[in-house]
Formats: sequence, C-alpha cells, structure tokens
Amino acid sequence: MCYTIQHMKILVLNGPNLNLLGMREPELYGDRTYADLVAFCGRIAAGSGVDVDVRQTNHEGTLVDWIQEARGTFDALVLNAAAYTHTSVAVLDALKATRIPTAEVHLTEPKSREDFRRVSYVGMAAEKTFSGRGFESYADAIRYFAAKGA
Ligand code: DQA
Repeated sequence: MCYTIQHMKILVLNGPNLNLLGMREPELYGDRTYADLVAFCGRIAAGSGVDVDVRQTNHEGTLVDWIQEARGTFDALVLNAAAYTHTSVAVLDALKATRIPTAEVHLTEPKSREDFRRVSYVGMAAEKTFSGRGFESYADAIRYFAAKGA
C-alpha cells in the first residue's frame, strides 16, 4: 500500500511596490527585503505542514489572472494586494467569482493611516484580515489556513 500525503497548497500574492521592500519607506515597512519575505513565508509554511507559492506583481490584471488560475490548484489565498486593496473592484470580483478562501494581509495597519486606505475591496471578499504585524501578518494568515484546513 502506498499513501501520498497531500499538503494544503496556499498561494501568497503580493501587489504593487512590495518588490521594493527593504528600500521602500523603511520607517513603515521595515528594512527586510522582498526576498526575505519569500524565505519567511517558506519557513512558516514548512513549519505548518503546508506548501506555499509566493508571487509578486505590479499589475492589477496579473493579480486577477493569478486569482482566476488559483481555482482548482490552490486551497487558499493569502493576499496583500497593496494599493489595489483600496481601489480594485476587478480584484474583488475575481475573489467573488472564484470563491477561493482568502485572507487579506498587510504589513502595516492601513485603517490607522490615511483616510483613502480605510476602504478595502479585498476585505469585502476575504474571510479574515491580518494586518499591522509586519511579516508576522503573513505568518498569522498561513497558520490560520493550516489550522483550519482551508
Ligand atoms: C500595504 C498597505 C497598503 O495601504 C499600501 O498601499 C501597500 C502596502 C501593507 O502591506 O501594509 O502598498 O498593503
């Protein structure tokens, strides 16, 4: 008898300017780089017994494509849509269309920053939001799905 253990697969998507972590407003986002974030998510996933695929794009349409393609391939989505969080009905519609279980994440706490960051289209479709804890926001989201079983 041969058993294959299927790990939960989580897609971690990052939106615009997150590739500039480390040099981007370090007083807000810290001095660790995007590569550090990818490695961090990998370590958290390994420790939680799940698989992660971590990606970043500056393009709204690419985020929509990746959300659509996630259907049937990934069990859950951890999404930091960055500025598109506050503007993108297209991202919201993709989340609603695919109905993939989604956790919204942010490094900072958008609701305690400028007024225009108070609206979250992603939050209208996400089942949970983890924010304000730097890289730990991603750890919280990955562990949330690992514990829940998506
Ligand atoms: C962010 C918060 C957003 O308001 C901002 O546009 C970002 C990053 C965060 O992770 O704190 O680019 O999503």
